Amino acid sequence: MQPGRDTKAELNRRSQVCEALAGTGVRVAKVDLIVVVGFLKRRNNPAMMIPAELVPRLAIAKSVTVLTGAGVSAESGIPTFRDAQTGLWAKYSPEELATPRAFRRNPRLVWEWYEWRRKLVAGAKPNPAHFALVEMEGLFLRFHLITQNMDGLHQRAGSRHVIELHGNIMRTKCSDENTVVSSWKDMGDIPPKCPTCGGLLRPDVVWFEEPMPEEEMQEAMTASTHCDFFFSIGTSTVVYPAAALPSEALRSGATVVEINPQPTPFTPQAHFALAGAAGVVLPELVRAISALRRF
Ligand code: APR
Repeated sequence: MQPGRDTKAELNRRSQVCEALAGTGVRVAKVDLIVVVGFLKRRNNPAMMIPAELVPRLAIAKSVTVLTGAGVSAESGIPTFRDAQTGLWAKYSPEELATPRAFRRNPRLVWEWYEWRRKLVAGAKPNPAHFALVEMEGLFLRFHLITQNMDGLHQRAGSRHVIELHGNIMRTKCSDENTVVSSWKDMGDIPPKCPTCGGLLRPDVVWFEEPMPEEEMQEAMTASTHCDFFFSIGTSTVVYPAAALPSEALRSGATVVEINPQPTPFTPQAHFALAGAAGVVLPELVRAISALRRF
């Protein structure tokens, strides 16, 4: 501590520093207080999570492709699938709820689970990550947004063209005819029945063991292999084939950026891994690019 600065504020700072260093093995007496306080400020400052060399390279990119996962909607209050404490698959098993077999075995349970999720989504609002991606769409000549999310929050935020790989839980389809059904009479059946053929209605999502939508998958693959920059945001990159897109982008020569507070199997391969929440990092990134473009 500097002479003459033994104030209450300084003592507060010092106790913050001690707290932050507890258990790290660093001895406080040996640490330059100013350096540590600087570190504490940086730790909570999203601008510091963005490497200086990333922004100028991104600002001149012509073509950007983004893949999003459940983490992008986490800050809207929608649980992810695999986060240890809060993830949906920590409480429910995919085999019981998200497979065609599960639906055949217990259609009522599956319908009601999706009904619960539909209500959650209907009550949720897009967060700063969704809005930052809307702004990004306007910043680049070519911009593609691919999502594994089924909640429609990108569209509600204002993203115009979203490639939905896993469907949308707000849409319903006939399980026999595989056609979208937008209205039906409530006869008290759970799940309700298709008004044309009487088959059971189900959410229009891609379950485990089901094929991917061909057109969307093709479009996603082309967008991933023809871009300068590829972003993998808020996804654990474990569910294929979506999880292969960051590697495809890498192989095609794109600079690949991951945004995720936790490491994923893809992290070691990413050119840049920004370890922060999407709702914090993305708005900061957009601000930085816009500021640079103004020069
Ligand atoms: N910002 C960015 N990432 C976050 C945030 C956040 N605020 N919060 C959590 N994450 C990260 C987690 O660290 C995790 O790596 O989001 C990721 C969410 O991973 P999953 O739950 O596995 O979601 P996702 O990758 O989208 O799952 C893929 O699996 O069950 C299926 O069909 C479902 O589309 C889903 C697919």
